[in-house]
Amino acid sequence: MTSSQGGAAADAGLDAGDGCVLEAQQLKKRFGGLVAVQDCSLSLRSHRVTGLIGPNGAGKSTVLDLLSGVERQDDGHVLLRGESIDRMSTHARARRGLIRTFQDPRVWPYLTTLENVLVVGDAKSGYSGWAAILRHRRATARQAANIQRAVDVLSAVELEHMRDRRARELSGGQARLLAFARLAMANPEVVLLDEPLAGVNPILADRLLELIRGMAERGAAVLLVEHNMEAIERVCDSVFVMSEGRVIGTGTWEELRQSEAVVEAYLGTGARV
Ligand SMILES: Nc1ncnc2c1ncn2[C@@H]1O[C@H](COP(=O)(O)OP(=O)(O)OP(=O)(O)O)[C@@H](O)[C@H]1O
Ligand SMILES: [Mg+2]
Repeated sequence: MTSSQGGAAADAGLDAGDGCVLEAQQLKKRFGGLVAVQDCSLSLRSHRVTGLIGPNGAGKSTVLDLLSGVERQDDGHVLLRGESIDRMSTHARARRGLIRTFQDPRVWPYLTTLENVLVVGDAKSGYSGWAAILRHRRATARQAANIQRAVDVLSAVELEHMRDRRARELSGGQARLLAFARLAMANPEVVLLDEPLAGVNPILADRLLELIRGMAERGAAVLLVEHNMEAIERVCDSVFVMSEGRVIGTGTWEELRQSEAVVEAYLGTGARV
């Protein structure tokens, strides 16, 4: 894997315009007296992995909350394919192909591994868990294709052999892979990942990075929040740097590591750049 795989070659497949799928315009979020995010503008492009880095408390997760609709901004706008989604719920955004993940892998413990993937369906055709479970349990012709797709997705994360085991029997690492399989099944256009590598071993981290890169290669716009700078260097086409609620730098990893402001923001907290 190189850091520029999603670059010039991928541009050929982009739709009209610059391929900007999701755009944040001057977002601001206050929690009581604390301004967590201020004047934050960033954009995500299809076929690209965009990094979002910054010291603890910089406002990264809050930005993901604002983009996905978990929180509402006090100021600014979020545009999906050029249209404002400011008033849309998290579910409405998910139906339009915008999905955010959380640091803990969220799976259904009492469903089997295969069922966990099957209930996702396609993000664009709805993302309602229980309705999907009921649909799943009523076998239909359409499901044969879905099942095949779910099995393919599971084999891509090397979990096919666990397909009939309940998710609660999986190890922590396998649960993370399953969460990724669910994401792949949802096939979202925009993926917001909050520290997906936190606490995972290096082999699994490698696998997850390949899967992240693969999502972008298939056309998704991926936003990756990570403290693991090696991972950022490996998979990101470009990176936004936040500090104290603001974007203080943007560019390729190589450009950023030469920026004094960026290095200072990290050195101040002991993180390595
Ligand atoms: N729901 C909330 N209520 C009050 N303050 C909050 C809330 N969520 C976040 N904050 C504060 O907003 C600031 C930004 O937090 P945020 O979680 O976005 O940072 P982060 O960059 O994701 O940090 P980390 O790298 O530690 O995950 C912090 O000072 C945090 O304490
Ligand atoms: Mg965070």
